[in-house]
Amino acid sequence: MKIAIGSDHVGLELKPAIIEYLEELGHEVTDYGPTSSERTDYPIFSKKVSTEVAAANYDRGILICGTGIGISITANKIRGIRAVACSEPYSAKLSREHNNTNILAFGSRVVGPELAKMIVKEWLDAEYEGGRHQRRVDMISEIEEENDR
Ligand code: RB5
Repeated sequence: MKIAIGSDHVGLELKPAIIEYLEELGHEVTDYGPTSSERTDYPIFSKKVSTEVAAANYDRGILICGTGIGISITANKIRGIRAVACSEPYSAKLSREHNNTNILAFGSRVVGPELAKMIVKEWLDAEYEGGRHQRRVDMISEIEEENDR
């Protein structure tokens, strides 16, 4: 898969290990920054990755900040993005199967590298089930459209 990744300065602590893992799994990864540990703001990098994923330039996006919260809240402001902040693999898997998430977020202050890799693997491997879930995902899109009017 083509995967866009981004973080803030806190998430940067975990990002290189995740990029390496994704590449080991055979994915093509593009890093939207930051590359230095200088203090910065998660909305900048969340917006970059989310905009690219929403434009279908990537199959999926991965975002890392301290908790995964700020960076996922920002991602969910972009039309067409369904981002989940996860700190365990079960929710990551179900977020794909039921909610068709296209962005995974987690926090470098919450999960260690091995748990983060497990979360990533479950999320990438899980398929969206469609069926009864599609109506609900469509309802989310309708709310986006109402807000655009
Ligand atoms: C940065 O201090 C921190 O607020 C950020 O990484 C993230 O956890 C926000 O949700």
